[in-house]
Amino acid sequence: MPRGFGMAAIPQIREQSPLKKIDLRKLPRHIAIIMDGNGRWAQKHTLGRISGHRKGADAVRATVRTCRELGIGYLTLYAFSVENWQRPAAEVEALMGLLKEFLAKEIDELDEKGIRLMTIGNLQALKAPLRRQLKQAVERTAHNEAMVLNVALSYGGRDEIVEAAKKILRDGLAGRISPDEITRENFAGYLYTARIPDPDLLIRTSGEYRISNFLLWQTAYTEFYFTDVLWPDFQREDLLRAIAAYQARERRFGLTSDQLQKD
Ligand code: IPE
Ligand code: IPE
Ligand code: MG
Repeated sequence: MPRGFGMAAIPQIREQSPLKKIDLRKLPRHIAIIMDGNGRWAQKHTLGRISGHRKGADAVRATVRTCRELGIGYLTLYAFSVENWQRPAAEVEALMGLLKEFLAKEIDELDEKGIRLMTIGNLQALKAPLRRQLKQAVERTAHNEAMVLNVALSYGGRDEIVEAAKKILRDGLAGRISPDEITRENFAGYLYTARIPDPDLLIRTSGEYRISNFLLWQTAYTEFYFTDVLWPDFQREDLLRAIAAYQARERRFGLTSDQLQKD
């Protein structure tokens, strides 16, 4: 179970932050991000789409660092969807190359900072060298407890649910579970996110207001935050602003406000 960062780091964050509104005792345990807008960022700067993805990788680095410093337990990043395979081959190649490069460059720092790497998605669709590299990074960091960095790769929410249904059916046919024994809780255990709590906060950049097949089951009660900022421009302050907005909300989970006040 990831533990928060030591208390020593907290005053520093507070001083550096232009937004003093963040309550460090009420941080989201799990933040998920749909990192969108790399292509439009590139277009805005009259560059090719790949340059946008490259700049996007810098925003990933900064976001991971900030989450680690704050003491966020889980950060899930939507890096590549199952639908993204349909993009031009050169773009797909470049994205996979950037991912390899990112992993190679960052793995030492991730490990030193106690960050555990996990992935969700259909990794079988990736080429063998990248799959091996990911497997090694996941294994190397498996004992880390400060934060989970969960990368959604070749990920599709509907595929995840269909895969879960297949696994349950297999267990059923093998006599390990009967239909009446299926519950919300054990169903969730068949998803890619089996050991990961549901996201508290989902951020989507680039001014799009949709879920794009991301964490369909897990976001049932997640707070959504949309910003027009394009992913390569997303900075520490933008993340803090999203957290501040999250903290200003009341999560009712179907109850009334009065009921919540009584607890
Ligand atoms: C997000 O940026 C990165 C991936 C989907 C891999 P986009 O590449 O979707 O950027 P836009 O939406 O075209 O601006
Ligand atoms: C969602 O972005 C996927 C990732 C950020 C990896 P897209 O750019 O693929 O989403 P749509 O196509 O605009 O819905
Ligand atoms: Mg996009």
